[in-house]
Amino acid sequence: MVVSSGMVRSASCILSMAAFLLLTAPLLQLCTGHQGPSDLPGKIAVVGAGVGGSAVTYFLHQQFGPQVQIDVYEADRIGGRLATLTVNNQLYESGSPSIHSLNLHMQDFVKLLGLRHRRDVPGKSAIFNGDQLVLEETDWYLLNLFRLWWHYGISFLRLQMWVEEVMEKFMRIYKYQAHEYAFSSIEELLRSLGGEHFVNMTQKSVAESLLGVGVTQRFIDDVISAVIKANYGQSVAIPALVGAMSLAGAQGNMWAVEGGNKLVCSGLLKMTKANVLHAKVKAISLHSSEKKPLYEVLYDQEGALGSEFYDLVIVAAPLHKTGYAISFRNFQPPLQLPIDSYHRVVSSIVHGYLNSSYFGFTDPKLFPFSSILSTDSPDSFYHSLENLCPINVTVGFRRKPPQEAAVWRVLSPRPLERRELKTLFKSYYSVQVIEWQAFPSYGSTGSSRTLPPIILHDGLYYSSGVEWAATSVEMSAVAAKNVALLAFNRWFELTEKIDQQDLLHKLKTEL
Ligand SMILES: Cc1cc2nc3c(=O)[nH]c(=O)nc-3n(C[C@H](O)[C@H](O)[C@H](O)COP(=O)(O)OP(=O)(O)OC[C@H]3O[C@@H](n4cnc5c(N)ncnc54)[C@H](O)[C@@H]3O)c2cc1C
Ligand SMILES: *[C@@H]1O[C@H](CO)[C@@H](O)[C@H](O)[C@H]1NC(C)=O
Ligand SMILES: *[C@@H]1O[C@H](CO)[C@@H](O)[C@H](O)[C@H]1NC(C)=O
Ligand SMILES: *[C@@H]1O[C@H](CO)[C@@H](O)[C@H](O)[C@H]1NC(C)=O
Repeated sequence: MVVSSGMVRSASCILSMAAFLLLTAPLLQLCTGHQGPSDLPGKIAVVGAGVGGSAVTYFLHQQFGPQVQIDVYEADRIGGRLATLTVNNQLYESGSPSIHSLNLHMQDFVKLLGLRHRRDVPGKSAIFNGDQLVLEETDWYLLNLFRLWWHYGISFLRLQMWVEEVMEKFMRIYKYQAHEYAFSSIEELLRSLGGEHFVNMTQKSVAESLLGVGVTQRFIDDVISAVIKANYGQSVAIPALVGAMSLAGAQGNMWAVEGGNKLVCSGLLKMTKANVLHAKVKAISLHSSEKKPLYEVLYDQEGALGSEFYDLVIVAAPLHKTGYAISFRNFQPPLQLPIDSYHRVVSSIVHGYLNSSYFGFTDPKLFPFSSILSTDSPDSFYHSLENLCPINVTVGFRRKPPQEAAVWRVLSPRPLERRELKTLFKSYYSVQVIEWQAFPSYGSTGSSRTLPPIILHDGLYYSSGVEWAATSVEMSAVAAKNVALLAFNRWFELTEKIDQQDLLHKLKTEL
């Protein structure tokens, strides 16, 4: 490992020198004049083709127009954490399964690409504490409300009001972005949405914030902790903003893309005619020209090293310890590398017969749930269990009842042992295991959490840092649009469109 990375480094050094020599001619041309402030950038690189990278490519294309070539580097597969796998000849979502209905960028992409929402297959959830069910969803929404009210009183209402307030403020971003306003840091973006209070929500825990609005400890322990753990595999110590987003998801209105969520990524890349390179970016090196800097992207394409020059580079891949490392040369970006770590979530896709007895239903026919969340206790070996529907749902589709073999997704902190699988399932035909570096490890940042910067250098941007404020498919799309607008506004020196104070008021009076 050590030897090969050393070799890669020296080889790419030689290569970069060769590339530099080859590129002297165009460089000279760049330096001698055609670069006025109103000139378009020559070429743009995007690192990563998950939803973030695909969306940033689309938004850059929208801003700069079709004349600007965009190269997209993807080390692994298009879609990133939007991914599918095959069980018994059918495809299932193996990464992020669902999108919230208020996620307007995702909704736009689906319309734009002529995709459809997957047919909704209703199902009920319950929370299991290892011993008994502490909360069961029933058929009738009002009855659900009643039960929650019965169990937890006003806590439930306070929770709803809190989540709604956060979502309402968050939705302001769409208006700002429609008017092409951009923010140079995650803090500025959050401040414009909900003031200092919103910035503080990345510092305080979700438990602390909820206790602050009068939600009881019991409600947090029984319900909130299970939802947070099912979503992020972490405790209620995660920041309040992340928590609010996942609790918004728990209130329903979730959807998925017919044919697989990752179709959004491949669709956007195709639509923008981006040049997709299946290569790992190893380094980004700064080369000064007289006016604007030029960046050399050094990459490894199936063992062969290559490099290319760009005016703008967007890193739309999380820079964490277990990711594909990118080094920065000839300059020091304002971040410590590698930044923190990501949280492992293991997804086991099991085709088999659920052991309904384990959940207290000796007759599997009577087991009414399609998903089970586990309460946050140290001895629980799994976070959640969910009956999956395939990515294409036909009109006549029905969920497999528990007495039949079905496809289940179990999320857990570590790979399940045979004994544990035998507890959850009576028997099974197959188990496929995917280990995700799923989300930031929010706990590991210590008491004062600083959010990563967006601007790493003049023309070098980092969009994935937003995950430290909140992580979801839509957050990646929101950050992508912000970065595309920021790069555009900075390129053309449209400073009045960056970090504007009091935007809410400004846009009200403008309209
Ligand atoms: C199990 C699981 C469940 C989830 N559930 C939900 C959910 O229900 N709802 C929701 O909204 N979100 C959910 N998420 C989170 C969601 O999937 C992510 O927030 C989102 O997909 C992130 O997209 P991204 O493009 O920012 O990053 P990624 O999808 O990680 O894309 C980054 C891409 O960059 C590539 N890359 C990295 N380094 C390099 C390099 N050096 N060179 C070239 N390419 C590189 C990677 O291969 C990857 O394809 C879930 C995630 C997981 C893992
Ligand atoms: C934000 O946090 C700081 C420091 O903890 C505190 O002084 C300030 O009052 C908080 N502001 C809001 C609006 O919550
Ligand atoms: C699944 O849906 C997608 C998107 O609508 C479609 O392109 C694909 O052909 C469908 N596949 C099957 C097997 O029906
Ligand atoms: C199913 O659950 C029951 C009750 O917890 C347990 O006794 C049994 O060992 C489990 N496994 C199987 C295969 O039935």
